[in-house]
Amino acid sequence: MKIKEFFEKHRRATLWTVFVLSAAAVFALGLLAASINERRAEIATLFSNKRVEIKGIEPRNEIWGENYPREYETWKKTSEQDFASKHMGNSTVDVLEQRPEMVILWAGYAFSREYGSPRGHFYAVDDVRNTFRTGAPFKEEENIQPATCWSCKSPDVPRMMAEVGLEKFYSSKWSVFGHEIVNPIGCADCHNPENMNVAISRPALAEAFERRGLDVSKSSIQEMRTLACAQCHVEYYFKGDGKYLTFPWDKGMSVEEIEKYYDEARFSDWTHTLSKAPMLKAQHPDYELFLMGPHAQRGLSCADCHMPYKTDGAIKFSDHHLVSPLKYIERTCQVCHRDTPEKLMDYVYQYQDKINETRDRVEKELAKAHIGAKYAWDTGATQEQMKPVLDLLRAAQWRWDFAVASHGASFHAPVETQRILSHSLDKSFQAQLQVQKVLASLGVTGNFPMPDISTKDKAQNYIGLDMKDLRAKKEEFKRDIVPQWIQKAKENKRLL
Ligand code: HEC
Ligand code: HEC
Ligand code: HEC
Ligand code: HEC
Repeated sequence: MKIKEFFEKHRRATLWTVFVLSAAAVFALGLLAASINERRAEIATLFSNKRVEIKGIEPRNEIWGENYPREYETWKKTSEQDFASKHMGNSTVDVLEQRPEMVILWAGYAFSREYGSPRGHFYAVDDVRNTFRTGAPFKEEENIQPATCWSCKSPDVPRMMAEVGLEKFYSSKWSVFGHEIVNPIGCADCHNPENMNVAISRPALAEAFERRGLDVSKSSIQEMRTLACAQCHVEYYFKGDGKYLTFPWDKGMSVEEIEKYYDEARFSDWTHTLSKAPMLKAQHPDYELFLMGPHAQRGLSCADCHMPYKTDGAIKFSDHHLVSPLKYIERTCQVCHRDTPEKLMDYVYQYQDKINETRDRVEKELAKAHIGAKYAWDTGATQEQMKPVLDLLRAAQWRWDFAVASHGASFHAPVETQRILSHSLDKSFQAQLQVQKVLASLGVTGNFPMPDISTKDKAQNYIGLDMKDLRAKKEEFKRDIVPQWIQKAKENKRLL
């Protein structure tokens, strides 16, 4: 029977079949669309039940909390300080006390005064006020930092940027905005109140995309779940006299490509006071390194591990308690991996332990190279003789810092992190060799003398820091200036 004849003969049956099949397909598609829309619908329900109208840039997290109590309550938990994994946790640890070589590595730079491990977003404003790195500016001209330093601390930042203009914001001194920037990292940093979409509030990210021919506003939802974090957890620098916050990604995001960018721009963050090398300070390239790791390459976003879903009755929402994913392992790793919590933690610890072995070696050898370079200068070395030493020190330390300042890198991208650190170790030894060569040409043989840098105090003393004086001034600043900022902010209803 020909197809046409068959069709003629069974016309009615065929039509029925077609009808039933299409109905089934429509139903199935409907189910799919419903499940895709479910999350949007939940958000829409939340949205239509909101109690207050939020307009413009609203930095006060409590106001958003009226509309979105679940997200707000979990966000507030970033104030908790009760968790410690093997190497990290949600309270601050004095890293310089643990690894005093870092004081030597940062000689001449504010990080040698104080460096604590990060804690929850809730403390971002407190911590930038309290650190010795911002000094104790009683008057505007006493500032050692520009306003750019506030950039990743508060939703008051986009508000002030809109109010005074971007260039003016960056080029101002840090203390100028002390009474304005008062709410810790929160809702307006990551959301557009009109539709609650995740939104980019920091121009530096959008500008960096633009220079690479990309449009950040065209990103998918899954990408936004990473890009929200990439507004702050990235490498950046303060460009030019205007201290314009810039992400150095024009040539790419690897440690070498960013170094090339800085080298060509002849940029350095500071001159090392011992070795006189023109140094780079890596910030916290969590995003750049994460992209090179196994999870990003399988399409995961930061939120998949750091903002797992949580349920409250029938409502599913994103946990806004940003913390180590090991704290809620049953809602993070175990969503995708079947291993036991112990096994999963062990994966993380193995990566971290192995990478820390190399890291600790680098810190010792690199500190030694800086001290050796100082000895060579003191012995009468010339600029020309020292050039190769200084280039190696800059390159070695840039690599070390890039790998270490990205706090999660040893888990996020273990192979890349180990690669970077091994190059750093190699360059640190090369720098030592060059120092020995210079010393030999000056008639010095054998080892150069090493000072006692076995504690933070001893190391700070060696590089000539007067911590006693800094401490006294900071205490005065915290007692007299900070309460004035807070009071003024309350009077102006900037702070609830
Ligand atoms: C660091 C960035 C960040 C901050 C800060 C932040 N959010 Fe979110 N928020 C997200 C991300 C990412 C999602 C998930 C979006 C998605 O999956 O589409 C989200 C989702 C939401 C949703 C949608 C429903 C849900 O839970 O998935 C609401 C509502 C929300 N956030 C409210 C808030 C409120 C209120 C605050 C302040 C207390 C806040 N957010 C602070 C990044 C942030
Ligand atoms: C507006 C800038 C900003 C944004 C956006 C941001 N962070 Fe942070 N984050 C910080 C700062 C600053 C700290 C350190 C705070 C401190 O120690 O006072 C921090 C700390 C953290 C910590 C350490 C917390 C702890 O308990 O030790 C984690 C984890 C973290 N952020 C993850 C994320 C993730 C994931 C995202 C995106 C969903 C994100 N952050 C978005 C600025 C930001
Ligand atoms: C596959 C899961 C996973 C993803 C995805 C992920 N992280 Fe992490 N992150 C971890 C783990 C595990 C640690 C180590 C926690 C520990 O040791 O307690 C960590 C650590 C961190 C830390 C250091 C926390 C501290 O207490 O010092 C920061 C900051 C961080 N991650 C930010 C990010 C950012 C930003 C992204 C996206 C660019 C991201 N993470 C993506 C699992 C993840
Ligand atoms: C959203 C899903 C998801 C989550 C959440 C997740 N992972 Fe994974 N993980 C993956 C995928 C996918 C791979 C790649 C698997 C493959 O290709 O075989 C992977 C790979 C790994 C690997 C092997 C890495 C390598 O070098 O290939 C380890 C270890 C791992 N995950 C540990 C963890 C830990 C620990 C956590 C929690 C902090 C976690 N994962 C969270 C999906 C996830």
